[in-house]
Amino acid sequence: MIYVDNNSTTRLADEVAQAMSEAYAAGYLNPSSQHQLGQKARRRLDDARENILNFLGGETTRFQGDRLVFTSGGTEANNLALFGLGKITGGQVIISAIEHPSISEAADQLRARGTIVRVLPVNTDGVAQLDQLSDWLAEPTRLVSVMLANNETGVLQPVTEISHICRQHGVPLHVDAVQGIGKIPVNFRSLQASAMTISPHKFHGPRGIGALVLDDHVKLNPAMFGGSQQLAMRPGTESVELTIGFETALKLAIGAISEAGIRMQFLRDRLEDTLLKDLGSDVMAINGRNALRLPHTSNIAFPGIDRQALVMALDMAGVACSTGSACASGSSEPSPTLIAMGLSEEVISGSIRLSLSRDTTEEEIDEVAKRISNCIKHLRRS
Ligand SMILES: Cc1ncc(COP(=O)(O)O)c(C=O)c1O
Repeated sequence: MIYVDNNSTTRLADEVAQAMSEAYAAGYLNPSSQHQLGQKARRRLDDARENILNFLGGETTRFQGDRLVFTSGGTEANNLALFGLGKITGGQVIISAIEHPSISEAADQLRARGTIVRVLPVNTDGVAQLDQLSDWLAEPTRLVSVMLANNETGVLQPVTEISHICRQHGVPLHVDAVQGIGKIPVNFRSLQASAMTISPHKFHGPRGIGALVLDDHVKLNPAMFGGSQQLAMRPGTESVELTIGFETALKLAIGAISEAGIRMQFLRDRLEDTLLKDLGSDVMAINGRNALRLPHTSNIAFPGIDRQALVMALDMAGVACSTGSACASGSSEPSPTLIAMGLSEEVISGSIRLSLSRDTTEEEIDEVAKRISNCIKHLRRS
């Protein structure tokens, strides 16, 4: 099976598995325990937290500066940001039309509780449009949350510009950087955001851990209660082992970023160009192609083809890819991202996502292109 569904999750890197198994063998115990073993676990946890912050360009000393709150993953970090950042009462929240469900559905919950939620539209390339942002920010606003790059198209969002406008209005900005970290250089301080979400299983780290980075002056109200861990912002016993996996994966991803970025982009472009040459532009189109994109993501429309049938045919042909947002039943809803881009129903219902990783090889990409072409030709005939 050739795996091109890396925006969904990635393979755990061997070095990460090794570091985690050594951590489990070292028997790190509860970092909140007072005995020596607990203190040893606390020191290792604090080291990992500080290293992760440093890798991300955060400014930290152990007791002040930017902070990093470990969570169970990106979904929890996004929820924590949306419900807990900024002044807790009153004020609208602004998001973009293409946020991950862990932001858009959390925003629906806020709306149901009386918060005004405003949604920035995107253009046909999937880039958030900021024309109304300053006007909206003239109203009391608790938080703006916009992703760094879209999970379905890979299209980069104008977060630097948004952060500039937010600072002019003194409104905190949260950036969901889940798909960008490890693929393009990301520096938390340069972004000048108040908070940023990270999820290491997207860059060959462990599933079950994520983080919310907070700048030194933003306030986070907790969503859970019952412990003093992580300054009571996210209580619960921390896993030193998962934290070490996170730290190791981030170090590896950042170390490999320039070479891997160039290679993934070369392979992604090769895949798109080969398909275009073989099938022609009247049979397929690349969603978001005119915008700046992450180097490893390709969202391809085959109008007239049913995306679900195509993904299943590809699965049978030994290619694992995705239709975008899969729901629990395994079927897929039409992509809210592609809908927000104003694409036609035919394009939306025929679009699939292919996402590479630093492990993807040229042979695999050539094989994927061949198998997609065959499946499309077969589906078009039938
Ligand atoms: C942009 C984005 N944000 C958040 C998440 C949620 O992350 P996690 O799977 O760690 O909960 C994802 C996962 O696909 C994502 O793509």
